[in-house]
Amino acid sequence: MTKVITYGTYDFLHEGHIRLLKRAKALGDYLIVGVTAEDFDKSRGKINVGQSLMERVEAIRQTGLADKIIIEEYEGQKIDDIRRYEADIFTVGSDWEGKFDYLNEFCKVVYLDRTEGISSTEIRSQNQELRIGLVGETNIVNKFKNECRFVNGVKVSGIFANGTGYLDDELKKLISETTSFEALIDKSDAVYIASKPSEHYNQVKTALENGVHVICESPVCMTQSEFSEVSAIAEEKRLVLMDGIKTAYSIAFNRMMLLIKGGIIGETLSVDTTCTSLMDIDDNCLPPHIWNSICAWGPTALLPIFKILGTDFKQIMKFSKTLPSHRDFDLFTKVSFLYDNAVASIKVGQGVKSEGEMVIAGTKGYIYVPAPWWKTDYFEVRYENPSDNRRYFYQLEGEGIRYEILSFLNLIKGKVSYNQVSPKISSKIIRIVEEVSDTK
Ligand code: CTP
Repeated sequence: MTKVITYGTYDFLHEGHIRLLKRAKALGDYLIVGVTAEDFDKSRGKINVGQSLMERVEAIRQTGLADKIIIEEYEGQKIDDIRRYEADIFTVGSDWEGKFDYLNEFCKVVYLDRTEGISSTEIRSQNQELRIGLVGETNIVNKFKNECRFVNGVKVSGIFANGTGYLDDELKKLISETTSFEALIDKSDAVYIASKPSEHYNQVKTALENGVHVICESPVCMTQSEFSEVSAIAEEKRLVLMDGIKTAYSIAFNRMMLLIKGGIIGETLSVDTTCTSLMDIDDNCLPPHIWNSICAWGPTALLPIFKILGTDFKQIMKFSKTLPSHRDFDLFTKVSFLYDNAVASIKVGQGVKSEGEMVIAGTKGYIYVPAPWWKTDYFEVRYENPSDNRRYFYQLEGEGIRYEILSFLNLIKGKVSYNQVSPKISSKIIRIVEEVSDTK
C-alpha cells in the first residue's frame, strides 16, 4: 500500500484544495491530510484564518478524500508524521516548490501544480474588505499602515494629518489626497485615530456620528464624561469603539492573564509596571506630536493592573515631575494604587530612564516580564524553588499591532464580542490621566 501525506490550512475549502487532494490521493492508496492549527499558522505569519480548526477539519472530512486527518501543531512535525505513519509520498502544491526538498531523506517528495486563480486569501478578502482611514502623524501611524498588509481584507483608504510629524514617503504622498477629517470619513468604514489626545474626543465623536467604526490610541478621551458620551453613541449606533493599547492584543500577554486567573501564582498581591522612553525634550520648544508621559505610557502601564486587580481601587497616590515651562507635560509620573487586598504601581516617563519591566507578585510565586514588557513575547513564572520555574514564549509579530487590527476586524464582523480592553478599563485609564493632569 502506498501512503500519501499532505498538509494545508484549508480555510474556506475551495476548488484548488479539492483538485489538489484528488491528485494527491491518486498518487497512492491511502491519503493522510494534515490540517494546520491556528497557533502554528500564527507563528508562521498567517494570522487571520477565517474558520476554526474544527470547521476546517470537518470540511476536509466531508470531501471523503482523506483516509486519515491529523492536526499539524508544531515546527518539524512533518518528519515525525512521515515516520509515524510510514508515509511513502509527501505532496503539496507547486507554490511550495523546493521548500520541502529536505523531506526527500524520509520519503518521496512530489510538488503538484497549483490551481491558478483561486486562494483562501482571496476569499477572505472578498468576505471582509474594510477601508480604514488613518488619523495622526506619530511613528505608530506608519507602523499601523504597514501592519494592515498582514491582515487580509483591510485596506488603508487615506490619511488625515497636517504633515508636521514623522510620516514615511508612502503616507506623505497619501496626505494630499485627503484635505479634511470629514473627507477621510466619507471614504472609510473605520478609522484608526492616533492624533494628539486632546483631539481624540471630537474625532471619535464625529466618526461615530457618521457611522464609522473607531479604533483610537489610548487615552480615548481626556475626561470620563467625554468617554461616556462617545461610548453611548457607539452603543446606540452598534459601532465598534476599540481602545488601541496594542499590548492588550498580544498572544503572550493574553496567555499570561489567563494563567494568573487560573491561579498559577496564587492570589495576586501586587502588580508593578514601568514604561519609559527617554526623549530629547526641549523645554523651550516642545514638538506638538510628542505626548506627555501619562498619555504616552499611562494606558499601557495601567492595563495589566486593571485587568488583574480590577478597577475598584480604594485610593491612589501620585507624584509627577513636569517641565518648568509646560506644566501639563510630565517628564515622569509614579502612581500607587491601594486595593482592598492588593497594591499596585505604575512608573512612566519620557524624560527619565528606568528598567521597563513588570513584576506580578502572588502568594505562591511571581511573574517576571523583562524589558520591554509591553512588547511581551516572553515571561517567566518563578517560585521559591527555582526548579519549579516555568518559561513561556509566544512569538510576537509586528509588535502586536496586527493582532490588534485583526481583533478590530473580528469585532466589526461580529465574530467575537469580547473586547480585550473593556469600556470600564478605558474609562478608569482616563480617570488616572485626568487625576495626574490635575496636579499641574
Ligand atoms: N492549493 C492549490 N491550488 C490553490 C490553492 C491551494 O493546489 N489554488 C494547494 C496548496 O499548494 C497546498 C494546499 O492546497 O498544497 C493547501 O493550501 P492552503 O495554504 O491551505 O491554501 P491557499 O488557498 O493557498 O491559502 P492561503 O491563500 O491562505 O495561502
